[in-house]
Amino acid sequence: MTILMVGSGGREHALIRKLKESPRVTRILCAPGNGGASRDAECFPVPATDLPGMLKLAQREDVDLVFVAPDDPLALGMVDLMQKNGIRAFGPSKAAARIEASKVFSKRLMEKYSIPTAEYAVFEVTADALAYIRAQGTFPSVIKADGLALGKGVVIAQDLAEAKAALRAILEEGKFGQSGRRVVVEEFLTGPEVSVLAFTDGKTLVHMISSMDHKRALDGDKGLNTGGMGTVAPNPHYTPEIAAECMEKIFLPTLRAMQAEGCPFAGCLYFGLILTPNGPKVIEYNARFGDPETQVVLPLLDTPLADIVDAVVDSRLADIDIKWKNAHAACVVLASGGYPEAYEKGKVISGLDADGQADNAEVFHAGTAYEDGRFVTNGGRVLGVTGMGGTLAQALERAYSAVEGIAFEGVHYRRDIGAKC
Ligand code: AMP
Ligand code: GLY
Repeated sequence: MTILMVGSGGREHALIRKLKESPRVTRILCAPGNGGASRDAECFPVPATDLPGMLKLAQREDVDLVFVAPDDPLALGMVDLMQKNGIRAFGPSKAAARIEASKVFSKRLMEKYSIPTAEYAVFEVTADALAYIRAQGTFPSVIKADGLALGKGVVIAQDLAEAKAALRAILEEGKFGQSGRRVVVEEFLTGPEVSVLAFTDGKTLVHMISSMDHKRALDGDKGLNTGGMGTVAPNPHYTPEIAAECMEKIFLPTLRAMQAEGCPFAGCLYFGLILTPNGPKVIEYNARFGDPETQVVLPLLDTPLADIVDAVVDSRLADIDIKWKNAHAACVVLASGGYPEAYEKGKVISGLDADGQADNAEVFHAGTAYEDGRFVTNGGRVLGVTGMGGTLAQALERAYSAVEGIAFEGVHYRRDIGAKC
């Protein structure tokens, strides 16, 4: 089986390394990939959003399956394009990917099908949104750009002035372009956050091991929001009782809602949840594997990933038994100094072996390039270092001891991943 992985992050590297373990996988290609992915797959310089370019590559290399991992190509309809041309593809259709690509779509879906989420309203005009926020009279108030915004489209406004500034930037100054033509204003929820990824073929849903992301740049959940600075799995707040409640009230209703709307979801569906005092509620859906959730969830998977991917694409997920290791995983992200704001690239990374790996941990490359036999930084989030163990403490110990052996100029990482657990 030949697989083409679309994307260039740590998530894609983790998917590639897991697929490599599957006996049936004989060849893995990746476009565009990164320094670490180039050690595990053949990389091609086709941008992830270049739909015709990706189709040409898949046809020329005669691949059996295209795995579309990032949000943008899914929202653009890459899976539909591949399927129209007779190429099997993992990921939701363009219509189903709206569950992530439009917050207005996902909020209306949840409202229509009584799926628990924050109270909300949709606006196109700043004055109308401000009048609503004023009438609500409660802060913080959560303001979200409708469309994709690299994970930066959410503002938690502490007062009216902050809300006004955010609304102006999104609706009037075009901070997120077309993605900010509309906003969702919603109720602020409190409680522990849980990420749950699920395999689904549109009819059957099997959730994976839960995880916890750490979105803020600095220790103690301070600093700016990032794409994710670290993760642990399983998430200790996600008990079997809560998992059963989520399955009944959130996961299966979402699956049925997408069927009823005529856009069944196949691929990996990501549930971003908050465990509020009034029960679990959805804060966001993603139409794909999370990053860096994938870097802790997949190392715990025991069943060959290629078998699951095949079953999803062929709509026979109900036929396979998915097994997990009874262990814990922790991932620490090493970022470039300055991230998530401006940072420099091209810093030489020391402490990795020729394959880009380190002892006693698995290293997932994100913003790296491989040049003249060396790995250099090439993005904001550079590496995700995952440790595994029988306990969370052991997993964290392994991850951090590997992290200490890796260095590049300006490296920044959080020292408190998993500390809240
Ligand atoms: P998102 O980009 O949608 O994952 O949102 C980024 C972060 O904003 C989430 O991880 C939450 O911490 C926070 N957030 C989003 N929506 C809400 C909400 N309704 N209440 C409280 N926090 C929220
Ligand atoms: N880690 C959050 C995401 O992938 O969107």
